[in-house]
Amino acid sequence: LSSKILIAGGTVVNADHQEVADVYVEDGVIVDVRPNIKVSDGVRIIDATGKFVMPGGIDPHTHLAMEFMGTETIDNFFSGQAAALAGGTTMHIDFVIPVQGSLSKGYEAYVEKAKLSCMDYGFHMAITKWDDTVSKEMEIMVKEKGINSFKFFMAYKGSLMISDELLLEGLKQCKSLGALAMVHAENGDAVFEGQKRMIELGITGPEGHALSRPPVLEGEATARAIRLAAFVNTPLYVVHVMSIDAMEEIARAQKSGQKVIGEPVVSGLVLDDSVLWDPDFITAAKFVMSPPIRAPGHGKALQAALSTGILKLVGTDHCTFNSTQKSFGIDDFRKIPNGVNGLEERMHLVWDTMVESGQLSVTDFVRVTSTECAKLFNIYPRKGAIRAGSDADIIIFNPNSTFHISASSHHSRSDTNVYEGRNGKGKVEVTIAGGKIVWENDELKVVPGSGKYISMPPFNYLYNGIDKADENYLTSLKAPVNRIKPSL
Ligand code: URP
Ligand code: ZN
Ligand code: ZN
Ligand code: ZN
Repeated sequence: LSSKILIAGGTVVNADHQEVADVYVEDGVIVDVRPNIKVSDGVRIIDATGKFVMPGGIDPHTHLAMEFMGTETIDNFFSGQAAALAGGTTMHIDFVIPVQGSLSKGYEAYVEKAKLSCMDYGFHMAITKWDDTVSKEMEIMVKEKGINSFKFFMAYKGSLMISDELLLEGLKQCKSLGALAMVHAENGDAVFEGQKRMIELGITGPEGHALSRPPVLEGEATARAIRLAAFVNTPLYVVHVMSIDAMEEIARAQKSGQKVIGEPVVSGLVLDDSVLWDPDFITAAKFVMSPPIRAPGHGKALQAALSTGILKLVGTDHCTFNSTQKSFGIDDFRKIPNGVNGLEERMHLVWDTMVESGQLSVTDFVRVTSTECAKLFNIYPRKGAIRAGSDADIIIFNPNSTFHISASSHHSRSDTNVYEGRNGKGKVEVTIAGGKIVWENDELKVVPGSGKYISMPPFNYLYNGIDKADENYLTSLKAPVNRIKPSL
């Protein structure tokens, strides 16, 4: 098997530039990018004429092998990643869930799970409680384990949710470590109340899930997190932005100069909540995720926000459960495990929805599916670029072919697909991961254990501006008034 590959004659697309060029790969690394590269015998040559040669996708938001809501996701690090590679995604960042509140135990558990990996991956870490140990462990994660982002849950009352007091502590610690704070922004107390209301009204089906946690609760929590981040003066990343309400809060904060990053997910961009009213339980329950898929209009607005740059990168929140697991909630939507698929479908659906409709250029497509994520998490240009020295994570994309999505042909272990039956333009024909051809002629060639852990260093660039802002704030403070106490 040749470790030397020449991708000849394609249009090489980076986030800032595209041109016709050859790409030469050796031992997992891109060695040369320019027209008319001459190679010796024994080099595998792939003709990419008329096709786009782009950086493999990077999914900033996945849950593989996650224990959640009394069960475990059906996709592990092998099946989820195999699916990803078949869809042109060559790296993902998964959320480590602490074990009994211990970050190091959680980290060790995920190191074990990830031994099945067939593509590169990184970790975010969820913070589900707060004490001095957690605070110290955060420091170890950043300084020794290559984790530079922490997710705080403002929802899932009784399990993952933390209070504002603890969120503030977390934001402060992220700031001091040069880590990025992420939030799941829904008002968990109000969601809890909303769920009770639905059950009292006798609405126990999947539609009750959406009705119990409306956009206003996502908007409220997003606004609160943004203001708390402003108070602490640290950047904020809002995961799975599903509503106009949340997106507008992010836009407002950005306008005022605050560093807030909003991540839409594919399900929020392309689906609407009509599916939750399907009379067949599983057909509806497979769409249950949090925040919920919204009424028509929200998705279109999120697309527009992605097009104009308010939202900058697209994730999936891939978190799959099969029909048996979804049916745990047959009598009560609160017991339906939350999550949908997307790892395999993200690249195709973003292309079809955003590029084919004229809302994103081809270079913008690369930016929102790959480069922005690499830059944001400090792994650019090793990842997210087709250039000499970068990892050879590359896709060959045929804009004139078509894709078709079905559970009968997808590579996830789930028996359903929330995009069942969708067709669209464009197809990932070849995926090269770590310099190896892993997807070609609709066939996967993947080996468990071949994926590498990508360590993500703490931030500098985000904080340059922030330190200045802190200085400005301090110098702007007026001297306290020396008051004379009134004698009463
Ligand atoms: O429904 C969802 N989103 N499941 C995954 C966990 C989370 O909140 O991201
Ligand atoms: Zn050029
Ligand atoms: Zn979440
Ligand atoms: Zn998630």
